[in-house]
Amino acid sequence: MTAVTETSALTQLEVSLGERSYPILIGGGLLQQAGTHIAQTLPGARCVVICDETVATIHLKTLEDSLGAVGVGFDTLLVPAGEKTKCFSQFERLCDEVLSLRLERGDAVVALGGGVVGDLSGFVSGVVRRGMQFVQIPTTLLAQVDSSVGGKTGINSRHGKNLLGVFHQPTLVLADTDALDTLPQRDFRAGYAEVAKYGLINDEPFFKWLENNWEDVFKGGEARIHAVAHSCRAKAAVVAADERESGNRALLNLGHTFGHALEGAVAYEGSRLVHGEGVSIGMTLAYEFSAQLGLCAIEDAERVEAHLEKVGLPTQIKQVPGQLPPLETFMDLIAQDKKVTRGQLTFILARGIGQSFIDKTIEPETLASYLKEKLA
Ligand code: NAD
Ligand code: GLY
Repeated sequence: MTAVTETSALTQLEVSLGERSYPILIGGGLLQQAGTHIAQTLPGARCVVICDETVATIHLKTLEDSLGAVGVGFDTLLVPAGEKTKCFSQFERLCDEVLSLRLERGDAVVALGGGVVGDLSGFVSGVVRRGMQFVQIPTTLLAQVDSSVGGKTGINSRHGKNLLGVFHQPTLVLADTDALDTLPQRDFRAGYAEVAKYGLINDEPFFKWLENNWEDVFKGGEARIHAVAHSCRAKAAVVAADERESGNRALLNLGHTFGHALEGAVAYEGSRLVHGEGVSIGMTLAYEFSAQLGLCAIEDAERVEAHLEKVGLPTQIKQVPGQLPPLETFMDLIAQDKKVTRGQLTFILARGIGQSFIDKTIEPETLASYLKEKLA
């Protein structure tokens, strides 16, 4: 991955994947310029814009105007907002509609929205006609720093989170940081958990920077753009080195084994828990569990929890409202985790801040006794 240019107006990065390399543009005002960028990247392509109903009321017209202004032909398909939309019935409906529109392989699915729309649309674009062009226009912090980059697409199953999907890289990512101004505070905070994740994985100076500057990141302006660009750069480097998660890409799952199980446990009910909140709780538990196993200092686990708490994120399972299922359900959900290899659990644990590592030694009994304590 190489940073191509960085100015206060626009940052351009590249995800280096040989012939599947693609640019990520980051900055204010990109939504207005989206038509121009798409027409330059995919000359002659028609588009189907997929967007959720909430984002459609705020940002869709700007995108449609920008496509219209440069003569890009497009249709628009709407889906309900929220995690439950990442499901088979929406996937089937969208595939059917894209085929009805007679779009070809060289045409583009354009995802306008958060990670839900990005993951679902990406999956559609990855399978219709065995793969169409795909453009990501992420409008949440989470999608700008994580889900729009790297080509993981998919939907949830009743067996667990993100269990159906394909790797399908986008052709172009346009992250308009101005779009984040309309994001509700709860969703901004949820995305912040994924920003903090990059510090915790392997970048202690970035975590320290966030501890000192998180309020400015929330306010907007240069600090926010820096946080988005720094996170994207980190993600692009990991993806370029391990596109299909045969190795270190698994580190990006810090906190996700617990987080995904929690999302499954609340049946993807966003009023109780959204993805980034699950990641926040999961990262806190991953550090606490690491400390209990004698791998890292308890002070590091406390530091992680203190920072996430300070920004207003939940850090403990008991903060999830409503009744949770019994331990056995959590253990079943965790057993379906995509990182399980030959039946062995794979956990992302830590030796300190910025010192995460992949562990394949955790016995289910050890995990169960830790979780039992957390669920009590
Ligand atoms: P989301 O897509 O549900 O968006 C959150 C909410 O914000 C929604 O209600 C949406 O309508 C609203 N919204 C979006 N942009 C807005 C804007 N600019 N202004 C106002 N409202 C806006 O959730 P998310 O947090 O973006 O994404 C979570 C999903 O991402 C999860 O399904 C998770 O599994 C997935 N994810 C995928 C990857 C990957 O690599 N593919 C990585 C991380 C997370
Ligand atoms: N968000 C995890 C990954 O992209 O690998």
